[in-house]
Amino acid sequence: MKETLSTLSALAKEAIQNCTTEAEIEEIRVKYLGKKGELTAILKQMGSLSPEERPKMGQLVNEAKQELEELISVKRGELKNAATELKLKAETIDITMPAKEVKPGKLHPLNTVLDDMINIFQSMGFDVVDGPEIETDHYNFECLNVPADHPARDMQDTFYLAENLLLRTQTSAAQIRTMETRKPPIRVICPGRVFRADEVDATHSPVFHQIEGLVVDKGITMCDLKGILEEFAHEIYGSDTKVKFRPSFFPFTEPSVEVDVTCSECGGKGCRVCKGGGWIEILGAGMVHPNVLRSCGIDPEEYSGFAFGIGLDRLTTTRYKISDIRLLFENDKRFLDQF
Ligand code: DAH
Repeated sequence: MKETLSTLSALAKEAIQNCTTEAEIEEIRVKYLGKKGELTAILKQMGSLSPEERPKMGQLVNEAKQELEELISVKRGELKNAATELKLKAETIDITMPAKEVKPGKLHPLNTVLDDMINIFQSMGFDVVDGPEIETDHYNFECLNVPADHPARDMQDTFYLAENLLLRTQTSAAQIRTMETRKPPIRVICPGRVFRADEVDATHSPVFHQIEGLVVDKGITMCDLKGILEEFAHEIYGSDTKVKFRPSFFPFTEPSVEVDVTCSECGGKGCRVCKGGGWIEILGAGMVHPNVLRSCGIDPEEYSGFAFGIGLDRLTTTRYKISDIRLLFENDKRFLDQF
């Protein structure tokens, strides 16, 4: 029995030594030490031994068992470590490899300039309001003091959708909608798209953008208009920029002005951006005509106001020195990637 035991344990040791996977080591454990294992079988034969031999033999078997268990556990640990190491090696990351280029989305230059303008006016207490792009004749013209036969209608070539329905030619329509729904004091801007049946060229597009502004309160004068618009121009173009108010005409304001700023490119000397003139026209404005206030149920004897309409596209093309307005609408990625 002793001999069988030492042969068995020698075989087992050799098998443990030579095994290469965790699955194999488990097989060996079952083969020798399992319930039906070969070493266990020897224990079962102990009954045939004499009472003196039994404890000695028992001790020998237990020692052999313990020794094998220990060897198995050590081998198992080694195999596990080796497997982990192999896995880690296979998963190494080469941190010197060039990364994939990440291309995040960006704001369209029109939106960048619009965001700046909204910030400036909000800091002066203006709310931002929205208005529909499809308007009625009533809001786009009638209430703005432009009756059906008024020659000023020729100033804006209109896309009509039906007899009374049109694509708004100006954000000024939002003035009326605001005065109908809010009571003075009113201080709002309304940015948005406007549409005109213009011939398309480097400075004209049938779709462009305006920002309408409206202030109505008791005692509003031309000084408020000048102050706010000068402040706006300085915020956008810098405090060195000169601002010029030129008399003009709009049916919905009296008096009316157009506002020019010194060209930010040449400082007023004349260059390609300002087409040699030194000045760039950025907006139209004026004191809200009493007829317009009246058409919205506001008493012009009690209240006065001023309004303005800023061309967003011109502001954007001059800021970024974009030579053709059409680039703003083509969504050419090569163009947009530059901002
Ligand atoms: N609506 C005018 C245009 O499209 C711009 C404008 C001028 C708006 C004077 C105003 C204003 O509110 O007071 O040319």
